[in-house]
Amino acid sequence: THQWRGIIEEYRDRLPVSDSTQVVTLREGGTPLVPAQVLSERTGCEVHLKVEGANPTGSFKDRGMTMAITRAKEEGAKAVICASTGNTSASAAAYAVRAGMVCAVLVPQGKIALGKMGQALVHGAKILQVDGNFDDCLTLARSLSDNYPVALVNSVNPVRIEGQKTAAFEIVDMLGDAPDIHVLPVGNAGNITAYWKGYTEYAADGVAARKPRMWGYQASGSAPIVRGEVVKDPSTIATAIRIGNPASWKFALAARDESGGLIDEVTDREILRAYRLLAAQEGVFVEPASAASVAGLLKAAEQGLVDPGQRIVCTVTGNGLKDPDWAVAGAPQPVTVPVDAATAAERLGLA
Ligand code: F0G
Repeated sequence: THQWRGIIEEYRDRLPVSDSTQVVTLREGGTPLVPAQVLSERTGCEVHLKVEGANPTGSFKDRGMTMAITRAKEEGAKAVICASTGNTSASAAAYAVRAGMVCAVLVPQGKIALGKMGQALVHGAKILQVDGNFDDCLTLARSLSDNYPVALVNSVNPVRIEGQKTAAFEIVDMLGDAPDIHVLPVGNAGNITAYWKGYTEYAADGVAARKPRMWGYQASGSAPIVRGEVVKDPSTIATAIRIGNPASWKFALAARDESGGLIDEVTDREILRAYRLLAAQEGVFVEPASAASVAGLLKAAEQGLVDPGQRIVCTVTGNGLKDPDWAVAGAPQPVTVPVDAATAAERLGLA
């Protein structure tokens, strides 16, 4: 029998681990690259979705977390801490269980999706809701890790980026080369940094013949990189990317500029439209923040920025089940029927 071994074992020679490293894994990575028919038709391109919601805790964060927790354990840490809009905390909590460590998480009060909170709780993390936003949580987490015996596992920890770059490897391994354009949501900007690092390494070693243009999309109410200044009170329904001062800001600019790419914004309305399109027309259920990549692609296509015939990958970063409120909101209530086939058939429009 053969199963995917997780990103560290699959890409061991390209990651900062040694032969003696004991790997903490939930067999993350190896996620589906799904051809997107409707998006391909709309853009005249070959569009694929990298479905990161298929990771063990339901988001791309697991790629970075297997590295961060593996390293923390190797260094003898007994406890880890992170600031999070939800997914990082869910991932850290799960991997800490595997490693037998205590996990502390700091989340912005009232601004994380219920599914993510449930994950951190059920994995036994110690949760503090901070009276502030994500940026405040990160400041607090850094301060605690500087002054107390607890290891920081946010993406400011460089091994997180190392783990997350493997998504770019998987795409090249599947397609035989890098795409022309890679589109993804941008929050704290760790992931765009990681993808660019992965693509750059594969190109430098000749595994890929080229590198993609990197297109990142922030939510309009939380778009500090687009505005060129810190957003003090970020807002968006896409709580995962509700961030006003991204830690990897300058790396995101480097990815944009070195690749000839762009970083732009999409409105909450555009995000929700893409969210519904993905679910209703591609069969892929993602959380709202994840739909920012697809919203961005559709916006760019409307702006005439997408030449037909290109190969494009959109990362959809997290599973729709994390935040189902947006799926239910505005949808018609299912009707109740008795246990009666004739009535059911009639209500289903079959009769
Ligand atoms: N999509 C989802 C679903 C996310 O959870 C995040 C980040 C992003 C996109 C943006 O990625 O920060 O690397 O630019 N979530 C972090 C968290 C902040 O705490 O879970 P990024």
